[in-house]
Parts: sequence; C-alpha cells; structure tokens
Amino acid sequence: MNKNYIIAGLAIFAIAILSPFWFNMVTTIQAAPEPELLGKAKTEKKCVLDKYEMRANHMSLLDEWRDSVVRDADRIYTAANGHSFNMSLSTGENSCLGCHEDKAKFCDSCHDYASVDPYCWECHTNPKEIQ
Ligand code: HEC
Ligand code: HEC
Ligand code: HEC
Repeated sequence: MNKNYIIAGLAIFAIAILSPFWFNMVTTIQAAPEPELLGKAKTEKKCVLDKYEMRANHMSLLDEWRDSVVRDADRIYTAANGHSFNMSLSTGENSCLGCHEDKAKFCDSCHDYASVDPYCWECHTNPKEIQ
C-alpha cells in the first residue's frame, strides 16, 4: 500500500517537473509555420520537387538553377514530374516567385522562423526585376 503511494507520488512529481518541457514542445510545434500556399501556387498542384524535398533542398536546387543560367545560359528546367520550370528566382510565371507570389508570407515567414536570411535579395528583386 505505502509503496503504491510512493510510486504514484513519484509519477506525479515527474510529470510536474517535466511539464514545462512538454508544454514547450507542443507550443513550438504549433508555432512552426505550415507555409500557406498563395497566389498561383494555390491553384498549381506541383512544385519543382515534391513538398518534402522542396523543404529540405530548395537551396541547392536554386544553386543548380543559377549555375545553369549563368554558366550554360540554359533557363528551362524539366523536372522529374514532367513539368517545365523557368530557372529563375523571380522572372516569369514558372519561376519561384512567379508562382509563390507572396514572398513575405511564403518564403520570409518560414525563413524568419528558421532564422535564416538569404542574401539573394541584395541583387534579385521581388517580384520581377534584377538590378
Ligand atoms: C508552378 C508553381 C510553383 C513553382 C514555379 C514553384 N513552386 Fe514551390 N510549391 C508549389 C506548390 C503547389 C507547392 C505545394 C506542393 C505540395 O503540397 O505537394 C510548393 C511547395 C514548396 C515548398 C514547401 C512548402 C512546405 O509546405 O513545406 C517550398 C519550400 C517551395 N515550394 C519553394 C519553391 C522554390 C524555392 C521555388 C523555385 C526554385 C518554387 N517553390 C517553385 C508551387 C510552385
Ligand atoms: C518550409 C520553410 C521554408 C520555405 C517555405 C522557404 N524556405 Fe528557403 N530556407 C528554409 C530553411 C530552413 C533554410 C536554411 C537551410 C539551411 O541552412 O540548410 C532556407 C534557405 C534558403 C536559401 C539559402 C540561403 C543561403 O544563404 O544559403 C535560399 C536561397 C532560400 N531558402 C530561398 C527560398 C525562397 C525563394 C523561398 C520562397 C519561394 C523559400 N526559400 C521558402 C526554409 C524555407
Ligand atoms: C551580387 C548580386 C547577386 C546576388 C547576391 C545573388 N545573385 Fe543570383 N544572379 C545575379 C545575376 C547578375 C544573375 C544573372 C541574371 C540573368 O542572367 O538573368 C543571377 C542569376 C541567378 C539565377 C538565374 C536567373 C534568375 O532570374 O533568377 C538564379 C536562380 C539565382 N541567381 C539565384 C540566386 C540565389 C539563390 C541567391 C542567394 C543565395 C543569389 N542568386 C544571389 C546576381 C546576384
């Protein structure tokens, strides 16, 4: 009998001690933006790669695109899903910002959350010109 009380007491103690961590875990997950698809991206069904690959690899995809444009003057990218894209951050319908029309809400809100600040916009403009 006493032993059960002690175990129950310890369990309650452990829950009380750990609850701030659980609370943080839950609220952090809720605070992480699930980026809202806006503009054309809302009606289009496909990104360049699938969603999770885009999440993880859009930075290296953009590097690849830049190299292709700047070195090889090749501006059209045929993706594995069969769609063609304009290899540009911001020029043309099938570019990143041509489809994800709201940079602030889509790109920036996620970057702010992740504390990254891509320097690309020192030269590239939003939405359509390159200085
Ligand atoms: C023709 C429209 C279109 C173009 C062009 C496009 N995207 Fe997307 N993007 C989408 C759609 C639609 C989704 C959601 C895909 C899904 O849910 O499977 C998406 C998803 C994403 C995601 C994942 C969002 C999440 O929920 O985690 C990122 C990041 C992203 N795009 C970045 C980019 C970047 C960077 C480029 C340029 C290299 C680009 N997109 C080009 C339409 C586009
Ligand atoms: C789902 C969240 C998310 C969305 C949406 C998103 N990004 Fe990112 N992006 C990241 C994260 C996280 C990093 C940092 C990755 C790292 O350092 O490995 C990053 C890094 C980058 C980088 C590389 C920065 C550098 O200095 O190397 C570029 C360029 C970039 N994002 C462009 C875009 C563009 C353009 C869009 C909108 C079309 C976009 N991202 C949308 C999460 C996102
Ligand atoms: C110092 C200025 C500068 C910075 C900073 C810069 N770029 Fe560029 N970028 C250029 C110029 C100039 C071109 C060539 C434009 C052309 O030929 O259309 C270019 C072309 C590109 C292209 C292909 C053409 C297009 O319209 O987008 C991509 C993709 C690209 N850059 C991605 C990036 C990314 C991603 C970053 C940040 C990680 C970045 N750039 C930072 C100057 C810059």
